[in-house]
Amino acid sequence: MRDLKGLILSGGKGTRLRPITHTSAKQLVPVANKPVLFYGIEAMAQAGIREVGIIIAPETGDEIQAAAGDGARFGLRLTYIVQDEPLGLAHAVLTAEEFLDDAPFVMYLGDNLLQGGIDDLVAAFRAGEPEALILLTPVLDPENYGVAELEDGKVVRLVEKPAAPKTNLALVGVYMFTPGIHAAARAIQPSGRGELEITDAIQHLVDGGRRVEPHVVRGWWKDTGRLDDILEANRLVLETIVTRVDGELVDSQIDGRVIVEAGARLERSTVRGPAIIGAGARLIDCYVGPYTAIAENCVVQNAEVEHSILLAGSSVRELAGRMESSLLGRNVRIGRTDRQPRAYRFMVGDNSEIGIL
Ligand code: G1P
Repeated sequence: MRDLKGLILSGGKGTRLRPITHTSAKQLVPVANKPVLFYGIEAMAQAGIREVGIIIAPETGDEIQAAAGDGARFGLRLTYIVQDEPLGLAHAVLTAEEFLDDAPFVMYLGDNLLQGGIDDLVAAFRAGEPEALILLTPVLDPENYGVAELEDGKVVRLVEKPAAPKTNLALVGVYMFTPGIHAAARAIQPSGRGELEITDAIQHLVDGGRRVEPHVVRGWWKDTGRLDDILEANRLVLETIVTRVDGELVDSQIDGRVIVEAGARLERSTVRGPAIIGAGARLIDCYVGPYTAIAENCVVQNAEVEHSILLAGSSVRELAGRMESSLLGRNVRIGRTDRQPRAYRFMVGDNSEIGIL
């Protein structure tokens, strides 16, 4: 088999993560202080892939390019390909046709996280040489995904977000294809949501008698498109960290596995891991509980924060109750004021959600 290329889809609007995605790409939301997208790129590098195309949208492409660069630091080469409109995953494949040429490739949805990387899958694909290899995993809400029906271990039907799913096997956002997928993507019609669905293109291969191999994933998988999923992904990745303290602890304590990056400073605070405190962050008279990722240059003062993600430059001060299961964007300020009249004062973006005690 020829060398595999990689294709990472990093377009889309991220509507389910608004308001964060009003100003930033969903693929750059950090999980354990690292953009979701980077996990996919690293998985490709780890599997020996050296040429990776990244599909970007006109609105968020620059930001993604600025974050991931030319790929040198991941040990591979990144080529950016603009998809003018979000017309579906199969449309993205067609947009990348020139880059992909006639190479087999791994397609990875940039907001997906797959435990254990893709080494095994690449090996299975190379060994079995099917037309396509799809990943499946049982889920509780199959109606939100592409759903597969198998017979005798073979794929017989794939349906995109069926109202009444026949099985609980969801299509994971990592696929392996041979160049035959291009013709299949050209042969299908847009779905009800107006997109060329990769699910339909793969069904087209199945209908044409091509061999589509199913592979059920053993580890965890997360599509990080929603708040709960991002928090869960953060929790799962933090479970794997190893303690490292490069920052400064002043009358402070860490329990369990905690990373304190260089330049971070803790004063009279307790951090109970797993948790990560980014470079330049300041924690003063506070408690940070498990499953919390605090990005660089955040401030937490006189407050308790748990099971949350704070993006760079945010601050949380003087809270009477514990903050939990929260996602704060960049430079968000939450605090108490004694300004009169005594009242709640908010300045929040569209689609924000605030719960108060
Ligand atoms: C896409 C695919 C779907 C797949 C899912 C995995 O859905 O269309 O088949 O199960 O990714 O994350 P979307 O995120 O576009 O709703």
